[in-house]
Amino acid sequence: MKLGVNIDHIATIRQARMTNEPEPVYAALLAQEALADGITTHLRKDRRHIQDKDLYQIKEIIKIKLNLEMSLNEEIVGIALDVKPQQATIVPENRKELTTEGGLDVVREFSKVETVVEELQKKDIFVSLFIDPDMSQIDASKSSNAQAIELHTGNYANAKTCSEISKELHRIKEAAAYAKSLGLDVYAGHGLTYENVKPVAEIEEITELNIGHSIIAKSVFIGLKEAIRLMRQLIQEARWK
Ligand code: PXP
Repeated sequence: MKLGVNIDHIATIRQARMTNEPEPVYAALLAQEALADGITTHLRKDRRHIQDKDLYQIKEIIKIKLNLEMSLNEEIVGIALDVKPQQATIVPENRKELTTEGGLDVVREFSKVETVVEELQKKDIFVSLFIDPDMSQIDASKSSNAQAIELHTGNYANAKTCSEISKELHRIKEAAAYAKSLGLDVYAGHGLTYENVKPVAEIEEITELNIGHSIIAKSVFIGLKEAIRLMRQLIQEARWK
């Protein structure tokens, strides 16, 4: 199980004062030292956290995988083609949302998705689509030629009752098994925390988790390297069961 650490909220703190600290590239280096498998970061159209220069710096300096979360917006696609991250994850994006709400509607936006997937792959960028655990979205993702999907775990993370939690977990399990059977790599992320990560980490077909907010929140108190180490330990324990 690989762990991609999303460092967007390091930039959120910096942008709160429009200053030059803390720098995301420094967080990326610390994450690399803490043996994260990748750095995940979202260049939003409104540039509310990560800025273009952060991407170029991170791509140049880190040796682990850079996974760029990106919308289908033309300007952002252009930047992705220039930065050439090892992986791109296509996500939906709405201007007023607090964070990515729901998965990409690959069924509805199929022709646009297919075009962007092809453009990215021509630059040797591995493409993943961030989708809800829904079979028709998985079928459309496969047809678009994306190599991977990332299952949106937000509904699972937000579920309150035991029956809701187990229903959402079941959806994720079924979706992971189906996507794997089609030959897609299967990842997961969004809203995962130290409290809820283990049941998702236990799902064999999922091979990468992308986690941001909870790790950065914990790092305020215990430091980034220790926060990453702790998350990795929980994931490992889930895998060994
Ligand atoms: N995966 C994707 C595709 C995302 O958009 C995000 C949020 O940027 C994450 C993972 C990480 O979510 P969180 O910050 O809730 O851990």
